Amino acid sequence: MIIKSAEFKFATDEFKKSPRTEYKEIAFIGRSNVGKSSLINFLTNNSKLAKTSSNPGKTKQIIHFLINNSWYLVDLPGYGFAKVSKTQREKFQKLINDYILKRDNLHCLFVLIDSRIPPQKIDIEFINNLGFNGIPFSIIFTKTDKVSQSKLNDNVKAFTDELLENWEELPKMFMSSAIKKTGKEEILNYIDEILNL
Ligand code: GTP
Ligand code: MG
Repeated sequence: MIIKSAEFKFATDEFKKSPRTEYKEIAFIGRSNVGKSSLINFLTNNSKLAKTSSNPGKTKQIIHFLINNSWYLVDLPGYGFAKVSKTQREKFQKLINDYILKRDNLHCLFVLIDSRIPPQKIDIEFINNLGFNGIPFSIIFTKTDKVSQSKLNDNVKAFTDELLENWEELPKMFMSSAIKKTGKEEILNYIDEILNL
């Protein structure tokens, strides 16, 4: 898939305020600071589309970007970062849960995982919960520019080993770096396949 246009459409801080749309949606989720907004900018080739920050808790709303006038790419707040206040974390959690469980046109959720670190309980629990709720998802390991190939292999292996304790089959997985600009083609081709527009 080639992204020819990407435009901000709407942002809401309460799920029930999100307008219904006739288009299919793909959303990015993951821990605060994992690189969700950066990946959206990388995929759409627009460094100013989604707001990014080195401080966790930057994205505070459900944000809809219309892609090629035919589908939505959705940026979400992150979960679970200790530096984000408890009140804010709980608010984000409600927004995320409402969106994931109630958005009828959500086609696939990409769960972003920081490739630099060993499996985090919060990510594994989040993914197991998706399975419990029957939400279709794929995984993207981010920030691969920050880790050696052998460390990356170790972290991915440890992560998939953890998943295999609960899952019979592994989800589709991708590697990306918004800095080195890798992974874009594979991710966009997969989105093309699943949207089947
Ligand atoms: P919240 O909105 O706070 O949940 O964070 P987010 O997941 O949207 O992360 P964001 O895209 O704002 O990026 C967080 C930080 O990680 C920023 O400083 C980015 O520059 C950095 N970052 C994102 N992607 C990459 C990457 O692929 N490689 C490296 N080295 N840094 C990255
Ligand atoms: Mg963000």
